Amino acid sequence: MIEKCLFPAAGYGTRFLPATKAMPKEMLPIVDKPLIQYGVEEALDAGMHHIGMVTGRGKRALEDHFDISYELEDQISGTAKESALDGIRRLIRDCSFSYTRQIEMKGLGHAILTGRPLIGDVPFGVVLADDLCLNHGGPGVLAQMVELYRQFRCSIVAVQDVPRADTASYGIVEGETIRGDVMRVTRMVEKPKPEDAPSTLAIIGRYILTPDIFGLIESTPPGRNGEIQLTDALNEQARRGCVIAYRFKGRRFDCGSVAGYLEATNHVYRSRLDDAAT
Ligand code: G1P
Repeated sequence: MIEKCLFPAAGYGTRFLPATKAMPKEMLPIVDKPLIQYGVEEALDAGMHHIGMVTGRGKRALEDHFDISYELEDQISGTAKESALDGIRRLIRDCSFSYTRQIEMKGLGHAILTGRPLIGDVPFGVVLADDLCLNHGGPGVLAQMVELYRQFRCSIVAVQDVPRADTASYGIVEGETIRGDVMRVTRMVEKPKPEDAPSTLAIIGRYILTPDIFGLIESTPPGRNGEIQLTDALNEQARRGCVIAYRFKGRRFDCGSVAGYLEATNHVYRSRLDDAAT
């Protein structure tokens, strides 16, 4: 239904310095698998097998990760270690990968617009890899959103409730409930102060976007922090009644922060131990 997924991955990851000085933040491992791989697995499990990445300087490890390493393959061929590469081999086999570079950091909207040549004129998924979304034993968040896209045929944003004190870290939506976990968005604001926030429903880094978003981003002036904000372009779609907010099933970890990253690491490690014990 939706075949393409875009990964904006040009950010510097300054909160993880010095670890991210020469390594992309998307390559930080949660236990033994880099964040970006969790995101690509989620996209593929939602049927999105054309993966587009918007990268930048110092991000070549991303391309190398989704490619064969002949020397390594040769070294571990026939040993027990080979199975450690099963997951990444499946992605390399079943997905296509294309890359483009964002030359200047001008915000998430600008990053998405930079990815336009990789997407074209079709609806597509977006994953912000530092939001790790897990739904143990059930469909991933993007797969849940594709089901909604089937019904509504408009842009979909994943949302969750956050403490009011935290609204300035997120895009915040206001809308009308269609059914329990689904709303039609009437307005959205990028990173409002708690006292200005229209609600406490925050956008999480999973989107399905209709391709008219590109034209809307082009005519979006710089917003919060002087950056071209995706939220502002989506607000235009919302004005036309074309954005759905979805309270997804599963857990989200903010791996852009050290605390969230550690929480995710503990969670994944414990789940693995539990799975091994059953
Ligand atoms: C971006 C978006 C914001 C969204 C957030 C989710 O912000 O601009 O609307 O709520 O991702 O993680 P960033 O965290 O990149 O500043």
